[in-house]
Amino acid sequence: MNTYNAAEQSVYLSRVQELLKIRKVNTPKACVTTYGCQQNVSDSQHLKGLLVSMGYELTDKPDGADFVLFNTCAVREHAEDRVWGNVGSIKKFKEKNPSLILAVCGCMVQQEKNAERFSKSYPYVDIIFGTQVGHRLPEFIYRKLTGERRIIELTLDNSEIPEGVPVFQDGGFKGFIPIMYGCDNFCSYCIVPYVRGRERSRTSEAILSEARQMIKDGFKEIMLLGQNVNSYGKGLDEDINFAKLLRKINDIPGDFRIKFMTSNPKDCTDELLLSIKECEKVERHLHLPFQSGSNAVLKRMNRKYTMESYLQIIKTARELMPDITFTSDVIVGFPDESEEDFEKTLELVSKVGFSALFTFIYSKRDGTPAAVMPDGVTREQKGRRFERLLRLQEREGKKVLESMVGRTVRVLCEEYSGGLVFGKDEHQLNVKFAGDQNIIGKFADVIITNAGECLSGERI
Ligand code: SAH
Ligand code: SF4
Ligand code: F3S
Repeated sequence: MNTYNAAEQSVYLSRVQELLKIRKVNTPKACVTTYGCQQNVSDSQHLKGLLVSMGYELTDKPDGADFVLFNTCAVREHAEDRVWGNVGSIKKFKEKNPSLILAVCGCMVQQEKNAERFSKSYPYVDIIFGTQVGHRLPEFIYRKLTGERRIIELTLDNSEIPEGVPVFQDGGFKGFIPIMYGCDNFCSYCIVPYVRGRERSRTSEAILSEARQMIKDGFKEIMLLGQNVNSYGKGLDEDINFAKLLRKINDIPGDFRIKFMTSNPKDCTDELLLSIKECEKVERHLHLPFQSGSNAVLKRMNRKYTMESYLQIIKTARELMPDITFTSDVIVGFPDESEEDFEKTLELVSKVGFSALFTFIYSKRDGTPAAVMPDGVTREQKGRRFERLLRLQEREGKKVLESMVGRTVRVLCEEYSGGLVFGKDEHQLNVKFAGDQNIIGKFADVIITNAGECLSGERI
């Protein structure tokens, strides 16, 4: 059984505290390194929450730490490569401090071949755990401290979402709320559904009470997280969907901004667009990954929408909210992507005019359908396409910034340096203006006067 049992874990929590005290580890230190997407960052915030409850102090450096954890990502090969090296580099700290506990968790570990490699080739890794059992961290540490040589827990049974796990929100006044876990979409290139399990939504009450508390605590930005937030609510025993959830969060009194990711075009309804328009706290920005502009490629990707239906969403959104901005994810070099297919991607990028793109060269993931698709496209061709896409986006992104000159935007002020304040507006655009330190963590109305690398303006 995988459900979070707060009472049981709190017993382990206090036992770990006692054991650390007996061993004269006065302020035990924990170092957590996170790879991958915001979901992983959010998972790490829960793991940190548990560590802090056990009495650990968090540190950025593995040197001198008593507990070192790597929360890994498997989405592309590059993400994995970094982990193998970085976990290996902890060996020397373990030689210096044999009581150091080394743990690896997350999406990469959830794949059997990786878990096996960790357990065979990395004998100094003490705890290996998957994406659905993180809430049992106190138990794992307790078992390690009481003599178990190695703990491996990879259960992926899609059971109830654990509620009540402590969270260590480390983003200042910006906080994350996961609203759903897992993914049922099985895009043919993607490893996520295999390593995160089936889609499961949290109840609206659990989400709302977390949001209310965060607003009370002074958070100014709430980012709702899920691999496909548009299908939020599926399987719950309540009359809820993502559009309705947004309205409920928007109704919480207070001055804050609501963001969310990721939206899947296949489930992006008019009802949702309307609720974005009518919820004044929701940003005027949509991250809507299209992956490819070619219908043939989209079909082989199993994305379940077409370039035409994607453009229709953009059109409707712009009719409802003329100032809305869009960002997207794009994959270049999907197996057998032809030159014409790629041209369609460029065409889509010019037609929409994204403010930013997250561009990736296709990376083969073992176990996914795309991994066995024939691929006649060379690495060089993929590289050239990638460069062309970047150059086009540079021009398109500039146009979006230039179109903002003369407009007034609302900036959430994040950083101060040398008389300048830096922040993001409701369109998810970076803005700087002259101001002072005490505005950090607040909203400011700014009129945009110039579009350079980022927008600059004057406070009004
Ligand atoms: N759930 C989100 C995306 C999660 S992964 C969605 O559907 O939009 C984030 C991005 O990584 C994806 O949008 C995709 O562009 C990219 N990605 C996923 N698998 C990939 C692969 N095998 N190779 C290259 N990029 C990939
Ligand atoms: Fe991966 Fe597709 Fe799920 Fe996104 S929607 S996580 S790309 S399978
Ligand atoms: Fe990576 Fe897992 Fe996120 S594979 S992108 S950390 S869901």
